[in-house]
Amino acid sequence: MGFKKDFLWGGAVAANQCEGAWNVDGKGVSCSDVCTGGSHTTSKRITPILEEGTFYPSHEAIDFYHRYKEDIALFAEMGFKVFRFSINWTRIYPTGEEAQPNEKGLQFYDNVIDECHKYNIEPLITISHYEVPFALTQKYNGWASREMIDIFLKYCKTIFERYKGKVKYWLTFNEINGATGAFGGFLSQGILNEGTKDFMNQVDIPQLRFQGLHHQFVASAKAVKLAHEIDENYQVGCMQIFATMYPLTCDPKDVIACQELNHVKNWFCGDVQVRGTYPAYMNRYFKKHNIVIKMEDGDLEILKEGCVDFYTFSYYMSGCATADETKKSGHGNLIGGVNNPYLKASDWGWQIDPEGLRYSLNEIYDRYQIPLMVVENGLGAYDKLEDDGSIQDDYRIDYLREHIVQMKEAVEDGVDLMGYTPWGCIDLVSASTGEMAKRYGFIYVEKYDDGSGDLSRRKKKSFEWYKKVIETNGEVL
Ligand code: BG6
Repeated sequence: MGFKKDFLWGGAVAANQCEGAWNVDGKGVSCSDVCTGGSHTTSKRITPILEEGTFYPSHEAIDFYHRYKEDIALFAEMGFKVFRFSINWTRIYPTGEEAQPNEKGLQFYDNVIDECHKYNIEPLITISHYEVPFALTQKYNGWASREMIDIFLKYCKTIFERYKGKVKYWLTFNEINGATGAFGGFLSQGILNEGTKDFMNQVDIPQLRFQGLHHQFVASAKAVKLAHEIDENYQVGCMQIFATMYPLTCDPKDVIACQELNHVKNWFCGDVQVRGTYPAYMNRYFKKHNIVIKMEDGDLEILKEGCVDFYTFSYYMSGCATADETKKSGHGNLIGGVNNPYLKASDWGWQIDPEGLRYSLNEIYDRYQIPLMVVENGLGAYDKLEDDGSIQDDYRIDYLREHIVQMKEAVEDGVDLMGYTPWGCIDLVSASTGEMAKRYGFIYVEKYDDGSGDLSRRKKKSFEWYKKVIETNGEVL
C-alpha cells in the first residue's frame, strides 16, 4: 500500500502571482493587475485606474516570466513529476476579444511547457486562475454576462489547438466555488459592482455571482467537450476550494447547519461539474435568497455532456458550523464558520487540520468515484533569513509531512489519488492579501512587501526534505 508508482508529485503556482511582466510582449491588463498590496489586517484595494506611486504586486511579482528556466530547473532538482501553472488569459487575448491571439503570449507558454518536458515534468494547466481580462470586467461585468461563454471558449480553442500533443492535464476554473462567497465575485469572476473599493468588502450581489457560476458551468462543460474533440488524450478536471466543515457540536441543529453550508460551499459546484446536473438542494437555497438562474435551452444538456474527467481541489484548513447565532462572530478563517477548539491556526488565522484532508478525500471519493488530485496545500508563513543565508522552515516541513501522512491514510482507505502539488512551490504573491511576506515555497525569493529585493532564489530547508519525499515516493517523511 502507499502512493501509486506513477504518483504525480510536484508543485503549483498561478500566472498573476508569479509571472510579473504585466504589460510586456503585448499582455493586457487582468483583474489582478488592478489590485494593490494589502495585509492580513488591511484589505487590498481595487483601483480601475492605476494610481501613480502605488505598489501593485502582480506587476513584477517574482518575475517568473524572465526566470522560468532557473525556476523549472530547481523544480526538476526536487524531482517534480508535474508542474501546475496557469495561462494568463490576457497574454493570449489582451482584452479577451481580439480576432487573433497574441503570438508572443502563446510562445511564452510553449517555452514553459518545453522547459518542463526537458526534465520529464508533466504540465498541469489551469485555464483561468484569478486572471479575467479587466477589459471584460469593464465591458460585461465579467462572468455576470453570458457573453463570457463564447469569449472563454475562443481562448480555450486557441490553447487546446496550440499545445496539442504537449499537454495532457487541464483544469478549467481555479476554485470555481470561491464564487459562492462574496470575495470570489471579483477575484474569480471579474464582477465589479459599483461602489466596490476593497477586495475584502465587495459590494455583493449574490444573484450576479450565482448567475455567473451558471455561465462558468456551461463554459467549463463546453471546454471539456471541445478538449476531447481536439485531442482524445486530453484530461480535463474541475478545481474546487475544499473548505472542510464539521458541526461545532453534536446538537442536531449544528449538524443541519453544517450540512447546509457543505451543500452550498463544498458540493454544489463539484456536483454540477462531475455529475452534470444541478443538485436538488440548491432549489431551496436559491428560493431562500431570491436567486433566479436564467438558463437557455440546451444548457442542461451541455452540462451533462461536459462532465469532468477528474476532480481536483485545494485544501488548507477546516472550520466548524453552528446554528447558534451568538457564536458566529470573531472567527479568523477565510472559509467562514467558527473556530475549532481542537485546532491551532497559522499566523493568518487559517486553522491547520491534516486529518481533515483524509476525511475530505474520503468524502469526495465516496461521492464521485473518479480520480482525485490535491492541487494546492501548504502553510503560508513568515520565513526568516538567517545570518548564514539559510531558511530553517521546519514548521513548513511539519505541516506538509502531516498532510502527506493523512493523504497516505486516505489512499489506504481506498481513495484513487493521482497526485499532489503543494501551493506556491516557489514564494509568490498571496492571492488574498497581496503580500510577499506570506510565503509557501520550498524556494525563497528575495522580494518584499514594499517591492524591494533582488529577486534572487535560494533553497529553504524544506527543499531537500521535499526532494527526499519525492525520491522515496512518500516513504521517507
Ligand atoms: C488558493 C488560490 O485560494 O489559495 C491561490 O488558488 C492562493 O491562488 C492560495 O494563493 C493561498 O492563498 P493566499 O491568500 O495565502 O495566497
